[in-house]
Amino acid sequence: MATKSFYERLRQFDAYPKTLEDFRIKTYGGASITIISGIIMVILFISELNYYLTKEIQPELFVDTSRGQKLRINVDIIFPKLPCAYLSIDAMDVSGEQQIDLDHSMFKQRLTPEGQKIEDNPEKMTVKKPLDPKRCESCYGAESGDLKCCNTCEDVREAYRKKGWAFNEAETIEQCEREGWSDKMNAQKNEGCQVYGYLEVNKVAGNFHFAPGKSFQQQHVHVHDLQAFGGKKFNITHIINNVSFGKDYPGIVNPLDSTVQVAEEMQKMYQYYVKIVPTTYTKTNGETVYTNQFSVTKNDKIVSGKLSGETGLPGVFFIYELSPIMVKYTEVQRSFMHFLTGVCAIIGGIFTVAGLIDSMIYHSARVLQEKIDLGKAT
Ligand SMILES: *[C@@H]1O[C@H](CO)[C@@H](O)[C@H](O)[C@H]1NC(C)=O
Repeated sequence: MATKSFYERLRQFDAYPKTLEDFRIKTYGGASITIISGIIMVILFISELNYYLTKEIQPELFVDTSRGQKLRINVDIIFPKLPCAYLSIDAMDVSGEQQIDLDHSMFKQRLTPEGQKIEDNPEKMTVKKPLDPKRCESCYGAESGDLKCCNTCEDVREAYRKKGWAFNEAETIEQCEREGWSDKMNAQKNEGCQVYGYLEVNKVAGNFHFAPGKSFQQQHVHVHDLQAFGGKKFNITHIINNVSFGKDYPGIVNPLDSTVQVAEEMQKMYQYYVKIVPTTYTKTNGETVYTNQFSVTKNDKIVSGKLSGETGLPGVFFIYELSPIMVKYTEVQRSFMHFLTGVCAIIGGIFTVAGLIDSMIYHSARVLQEKIDLGKAT
């Protein structure tokens, strides 16, 4: 007996008292509202599910206290009007560390004037008289204290440079003729060049640049020797496929990618001032990417390209600085409970609203019908 009364009492708590099936009627209006609300429910459910399946990214800012890391610079730039033989790549940082004429991790790909890649055909094998390693060839009057012999074309150029002489009759210099120096320069005259690869530098401010001419140190000043080109003017049009500082993470924006700079005038100098923001990105599986974002401003001007370098050199220069503030992104899974709440809200909400609409339609239809019947009767 006691159990029965317990169930009786439990029934009191039913918030959903049922009406008898016989007292219910099904209407066309109700059916169409059910179908429409069903469709809306499915749409809202899918959008809620989609939202649940995306990752939430939480940004945090703090002062970058990491030390001693290296900064990796990825580069892929096309110079349609600048032959590879002319182009040199240098990097320098505020600590004074220089990387001149980088070629260990940077590659130059020759391009035809139309922009097609040129397969570098292997050096022609010509039977050469073996050179005497102990030889001492003339520097054509440019000998100095520490440079008495010029055994290669490079040596002669170096000697000329030290004297501050113009080096423009390479054809008359035996060493250069032997090395096919002017042939190489002439053959590539109309070509373009694609520079790609990466450099690893100290994580301090610095710069790197792409400019015609051979770079060297002269009284602690970095200068480019443009004399060899005999007053030639350069078209520094360039297409940046990619410039980034570190690895990519989902959603990274590299503002320079796929940008084109057409040089309307010869001898232009492009300066990109880059502010690097160290960034870490932690995925939900705990994997962390240490990388950098950056913002950039650009400046360009026409320069004379004098050896003194006072007014600057034609070329593309990147001057970068590091921000002391670091951004940390953390991917987090969205809460399942939240998702469940959302789904219940959708189902319940639509059900209730649809019920209201249905009863409104039903009752007003009945009132209307009654009015019509009344009108007929009289
Ligand atoms: C430099 O080259 C680009 C692309 O080939 C061209 O559009 C531009 O007119 C050239 N500039 C000059 C000054 O010749």
